Amino acid sequence: MQPEAPSEAAKPPTTSAVNRLVIRRPDDWHVHLRDGPMLAAVVNFTARQFARAIVMPNLAPPVTTVAAAEAYRSRIVAALAPGLSFTPLITCYLTDGINVGEVERGFASGVFTAAKLYPAHATTNSQHGVTDVRNIYPVLEAMQRIGMPLLLHGEVTDKHVDIFDREAVFIERTLSKLIRDFPALKIVLEHITTEEAATFVAQGPATLAATITPHHLDFNRNAMFEGGIRPHFYCLPVAKREHHRLALRRAATSGLPKFFLGTDSAPHAVGSKEAACGCAGIFCAPHALESYAKVFEEEGALDRFEAFASEHGPRFYGLSVNSERVVLERVAQSVPARIGAGGEEIVPFHAGASLIWRFAGVVDA
Ligand code: NCD
Ligand code: ZN
Repeated sequence: MQPEAPSEAAKPPTTSAVNRLVIRRPDDWHVHLRDGPMLAAVVNFTARQFARAIVMPNLAPPVTTVAAAEAYRSRIVAALAPGLSFTPLITCYLTDGINVGEVERGFASGVFTAAKLYPAHATTNSQHGVTDVRNIYPVLEAMQRIGMPLLLHGEVTDKHVDIFDREAVFIERTLSKLIRDFPALKIVLEHITTEEAATFVAQGPATLAATITPHHLDFNRNAMFEGGIRPHFYCLPVAKREHHRLALRRAATSGLPKFFLGTDSAPHAVGSKEAACGCAGIFCAPHALESYAKVFEEEGALDRFEAFASEHGPRFYGLSVNSERVVLERVAQSVPARIGAGGEEIVPFHAGASLIWRFAGVVDA
């Protein structure tokens, strides 16, 4: 798509100059921080830009208990660079046999912020996920009662359903039913990739919201096959046709409070991506805000960037907004081809490309 020139009306109210963007510090409502050396290598990319992040629990083994969540939170905090203020918000990985009391106790004590439903075998480390949502109805009842959000990987796993249709079919078969059976349960449909999802969420109840990644706003499915197979553009849910990308852009920049920032940054070592059976996931954390800012500018919607990045998420989760601000400057920067990660290397999103915005740091309110 040809970038549109930003219009007069698109100038954000918070810029002190046209080449500088100052917004309330955002949060990342969906990120994979991993563990061990990979955690140490990636966490500070997220922590330097975002005040808080909803941390996905798909570790091996997954985070299913309060004790595991507390230990993981401590490991994340221990890996933070000095001087960075960052709060990891831990999620609980739902399994068929998950203990209802454990989930409730974790939420009540502030250790779990939400719970994540991975349909079994839908994506990375989802083999312990839920085989049938009816198996977790008692947990969902408890979550509805205590106000704990349910986060969805919204894809069916039925091999007979075309991979490009799995999100739309999930909405029809599963999400509609969940909304009907749990009308007061807060639900976030994570990393939406289709026009169907954007429309369903926009028209759905106030209890339903969605996160949108920078990469699904940036490219369509052709990127995976440009001149050959390109594993660094492969993630789940997989990128769809161009009209879906355009629908996501309209949703993100609509100003509707149901849509908010969630990077789904999902690092994998280069060898696990460039393989006969490569892993799904795009490491977009290093330049996440620059990436989103480019999209909002191209859409002539920089004035709505702050609400999407920094206001809608906390409002949905019932948390306060951050008081600090972040600064982005219109300074070209090139993205490295690879980033070192504990003896391995990761190819970041936008590898080798030049970005128009540059994250310049956090300032106090
Ligand atoms: C994620 C991962 O690698 O953990 N991968 C991805 O493609 N997004 C899992 C997920 O969110 O599906
Ligand atoms: Zn994810």
